[in-house]
Amino acid sequence: MPDFVGAVDQGTTSTRFMIFDHSGTEVGRYQLEHEQFLPRAGWVEHNPIEIWTRASAVIQSAMQETGLHDTDLAAMGITNQRETTVVWNPKTGRPYYNAIVWQDTRTDRIARALDRDGRGDVIRRKAGLTPGAYFSGGKIQWILENVDGVREAAEKGEAVFGNMDSWMLWNLTGGTHGGVHVTDVTNASRTMLMDLETLQWDDELLSFFGIPRRMLPEIRPSSEPATYGTTIRQGPVGGAVPLTGVLGDQQAATVGQVCFAPGEAKNTYGTGNFMLLNTGTDLVRSESGLLTTVAYKFGDEPTVFALEGSIAVTGSAVQWLRDQLHVISSAAQSETLARQVEDNGGLYFVPAFSGLFAPYWRPDARGAIVGMSRFNNDGHLARATLESICYQSRDVVEAMANDSGVTLDVLKVDGGVTANDLCMQLQSDILGVPVSRPVVSETTALGAAYAAGLAVGFWKDTDELRRNWQEDKRWTPHWGEDERAAGYEGWKKAVERTLDWVD
Ligand code: G3P
Repeated sequence: MPDFVGAVDQGTTSTRFMIFDHSGTEVGRYQLEHEQFLPRAGWVEHNPIEIWTRASAVIQSAMQETGLHDTDLAAMGITNQRETTVVWNPKTGRPYYNAIVWQDTRTDRIARALDRDGRGDVIRRKAGLTPGAYFSGGKIQWILENVDGVREAAEKGEAVFGNMDSWMLWNLTGGTHGGVHVTDVTNASRTMLMDLETLQWDDELLSFFGIPRRMLPEIRPSSEPATYGTTIRQGPVGGAVPLTGVLGDQQAATVGQVCFAPGEAKNTYGTGNFMLLNTGTDLVRSESGLLTTVAYKFGDEPTVFALEGSIAVTGSAVQWLRDQLHVISSAAQSETLARQVEDNGGLYFVPAFSGLFAPYWRPDARGAIVGMSRFNNDGHLARATLESICYQSRDVVEAMANDSGVTLDVLKVDGGVTANDLCMQLQSDILGVPVSRPVVSETTALGAAYAAGLAVGFWKDTDELRRNWQEDKRWTPHWGEDERAAGYEGWKKAVERTLDWVD
């Protein structure tokens, strides 16, 4: 058995390839960003060809830098930004349109219409999702309706849909020379098109969006031997490595954080924040604004579900301070600036740039900075930005407690923003529970590697993976109960101010 497992992590801002050894330790990585196209307010697109080119480059570079070859990899996994939608011609390999990114709100109208005639409730019941522009179904409909010739092509089998996992798999396994057209059950659970009980595409749901069934990839478990084919010799890996694990990135982080038991949760801090709570084999339906989603399905074992709190804007609010307001020159500087003040000085920032996701699901909300007085300065704004990340997470934790009765003893965290020490301290203060970050903070790629490695026996079982998890740092609450309660009350008031802003 070779000594390593590789994982492609195709994210919203960049693509990376990481290589892990048996202890789950990173032995190599390479990462490249891709362009964000913002053609109109609310629209966000990626170029799928650019993304595939970047993916090829990061695989080749990571292999070269580590001196490893295809024969050193026991298996490969794929993890990806979820919901982002590509439609391409399987005969030519050309996408018909740019990828429509999960943050894109152009399909708001399509989504809102669903709640006018009862279709929304069917989606809630069958797919476990709150109808919204976030998910793939409306994005496919938009491409079918707005890009010339796609509907006719789709009827003939000449236009196929995939999220980034399918697009990567199709290219890695040969593209126009016999690539596979498949997805995994976690990615499929983010489309509004899959029934959570059958784990299959559902004709009634497809009819809501006018999507021909033959456009869709085959749905497979998240981890299975020989499920997704093998890489081709002419591709970036340079040989035949089995592709045996696929998970949407937030589900991958759940696996990387070894949240294998019901009641275990993780919170990933990236462009947005995504908290997933393992609910075991029970399909828990939320009453509090959370999504029901597939956490993972390993081979023939029963499907494991999760409740998810998705927050659209967290790390990207810090980027906004840097790129649009120019009050900081690097993301790390947000911490330095926020440390210059003792508290938020009464100022709250609700970054509802794409409306509010969980637990509010208010597409009509828009961002607001409230509570300002002449006393406030850029330090307060930086602090309020970090607090907004933590307060949005608290909203989700409260919703999880309502739905599941689970109160967290500790919050497991990962993702880029967890490097911000002040933000993690504030998270612990605002929640009133300890916050814990693991040694391997790249839990997303690790989770995909785990899914791939489990399938080929590189790792024996989830107990073995649990033993790989080690704490790197823990933050404990410093605020008293009164301060915590007053702070949260201010946040709730600020959220109220953002609602009903657009039609
Ligand atoms: O649902 C969207 C999520 O999968 C995006 O994650 O880390 O690429 O921003 P990320």
